[in-house]
Amino acid sequence: MQRTDRTAVLAARPRADFVQGPFVNNLTERAVAYIAAGYPVHLRGPSGSGKTTLALHVAHSLGRPVMLICGDDEFGSSDLVGGQKGYQRTKVIDNFVHSVLKTEEDVSERWVDNRLTVACREGLTLIYDEFNRSRPEANNILLSVLEERILVLPASRNGASYVKVHPNFVAIFTSNPEDYAGVHRTQDALRDRMVTIDIDYFDRETEIAITRSRAEASQEDAEKIVDLVRAYRATGASEFTVTVRSCIMIAKVLGLRGARTAADDPVFEEVCLDVLAAGAGNKSVADTVAIRRRQVVLDLLRQYCPADDGVVSLPRRA
Ligand SMILES: Nc1ncnc2c1ncn2[C@@H]1O[C@H](COP(=O)(O)OP(=O)(O)OP(=O)(O)O)[C@@H](O)[C@H]1O
Ligand SMILES: [Mg+2]
Repeated sequence: MQRTDRTAVLAARPRADFVQGPFVNNLTERAVAYIAAGYPVHLRGPSGSGKTTLALHVAHSLGRPVMLICGDDEFGSSDLVGGQKGYQRTKVIDNFVHSVLKTEEDVSERWVDNRLTVACREGLTLIYDEFNRSRPEANNILLSVLEERILVLPASRNGASYVKVHPNFVAIFTSNPEDYAGVHRTQDALRDRMVTIDIDYFDRETEIAITRSRAEASQEDAEKIVDLVRAYRATGASEFTVTVRSCIMIAKVLGLRGARTAADDPVFEEVCLDVLAAGAGNKSVADTVAIRRRQVVLDLLRQYCPADDGVVSLPRRA
């Protein structure tokens, strides 16, 4: 008997605060066109460039239920296709002759389908997020799925040894560049079977729109925060690459704390230092890099969010 245990399928529903616009629409149209032509799509870009959100958006636009898998270094192919998980016991009680009780017990290994198998069989839209965090040998199982549209199952499975991939099955992959920590180099054969769309950081207008939408910030506040974060990113002084996530965080917390996007607002300064220059907020830390990072943020704050510019941001929320 094949079972599917605790396999969550996501309903296809677009999120209300999803931001469209030329930048996002161009990527969406390209992805949808490749999928319509029958090719798996691979969205590749740095952290925070919107890959997962875009993959979900494209998947939603296809209108089929979505199966989400997140790449993991610990994965083996059985984590994708399924495997023997425990035992099942069947008991037959024969009491046909009332004076004789006959019981028969049969214990057999129980096979459980995993997400890739369910997606292939049911024709779901598969999103394999950060697929190159899984080791290449775990992902080999995808080669025949994408080319011959056959999922080959291990011999240990009872019943059929392969699943014919449903015609509605579609695959969307995302990955971080190969120089990221914890990321494996993808085998050429797999890369060759998908169309790779390289995604860069959002342009300014899109970052502003996303910050407005996700943090319910005003246009002026979103512009200031985005310009500050983009300028900080360009300095290369940050410990890690700051993305639109930092813009959303700053804008959201400012809204909640009722602070102004002005360099003379101590709350704004504090939040910017926490989000952008973590580790440098503690003045007692005698770390020259951290002190420099802190100074860079403070200088940019004065430049992009000057004090007393007359913009009153409160109240932020309706
Ligand atoms: N079109 C959009 N509309 C609204 N919010 C968006 C949009 N695109 C991205 N975001 C937001 O931007 C942030 C980064 O997006 P996302 O998580 O998709 O990036 P990612 O490239 O998958 O990053 P990572 O590699 O770190 O997983 C998230 O908070 C996400 O909700
Ligand atoms: Mg992601």
